[in-house]
Amino acid sequence: MSGPVGEPVLPTEPLELRPVRPQHADSIFALTQSSRAHLAPWMPWIHTTADRAATLEFVRQAMAQESAGNGTQFGIWWGGQLAGVIGYHPIRWPEREADIGYWLGQGFEGRGLVTRSACAVLDQAFLTLGLNTIGIRTAEANRRSQRVAERLGFSRVGVLSEGEWFVDHWIPLVVYQLAAAQWPGPLKPAQGSPAVILPGS
Ligand SMILES: CC(C)(COP(=O)(O)OP(=O)(O)OC[C@H]1O[C@@H](n2cnc3c(N)ncnc32)[C@H](O)[C@@H]1OP(=O)(O)O)[C@@H](O)C(=O)NCCC(=O)NCCS
Repeated sequence: MSGPVGEPVLPTEPLELRPVRPQHADSIFALTQSSRAHLAPWMPWIHTTADRAATLEFVRQAMAQESAGNGTQFGIWWGGQLAGVIGYHPIRWPEREADIGYWLGQGFEGRGLVTRSACAVLDQAFLTLGLNTIGIRTAEANRRSQRVAERLGFSRVGVLSEGEWFVDHWIPLVVYQLAAAQWPGPLKPAQGSPAVILPGS
């Protein structure tokens, strides 16, 4: 995407991260329904998310994790539309570390929405929560997700050959890490300002 003088065009629509709540379950389930084929190769949970009740259970678990102080799951809202979800796997407080995960609905890729959302989450993780290390684990075949980690300045630590049980078989996972001392990573201003984290309603 480029402007008249070859500069990237920055998305101008507001990009907001809202903690997931029961009133978002319909939007989240609708996005998973319309994105099944897109998510199926990468997200094991999509194979067991058959109905709205499964999404409500995800929201319930996310809110329990948040109430326990172990990290928030956010809806990624772009111009008032739900575009995806980003959040923490439960924070390991003794080590001050956590993994983050994310997905976008079909049609929302290629706009920098996850990179900019992750910047806001990393700001929160390192600057507000005082975490020391954030990890990202992606399927070895998921180059697109690996590009997100690399764009954010994460280092590739290695590969877990049996990293994740995926429906009916093990798949290898690439492990990435970023330490607080390395943040912010090699992001360029042209990549846009971070998303805004809103309080839970
Ligand atoms: C992984 C996934 C979130 C990556 O989506 P994405 O759109 O590539 O990531 P971003 O939102 O950060 O956008 C980056 C892309 O937008 C482009 N872009 C446009 N404007 C941009 C901006 N302002 N800032 C950054 N990138 C921008 C980048 O060039 C890049 O495109 P490229 O990869 O073709 O070079 C998405 O593919 C997805 O949801 N996949 C299925 C679920 C999944 O795999 N989740 C991760 C499991 S580990």
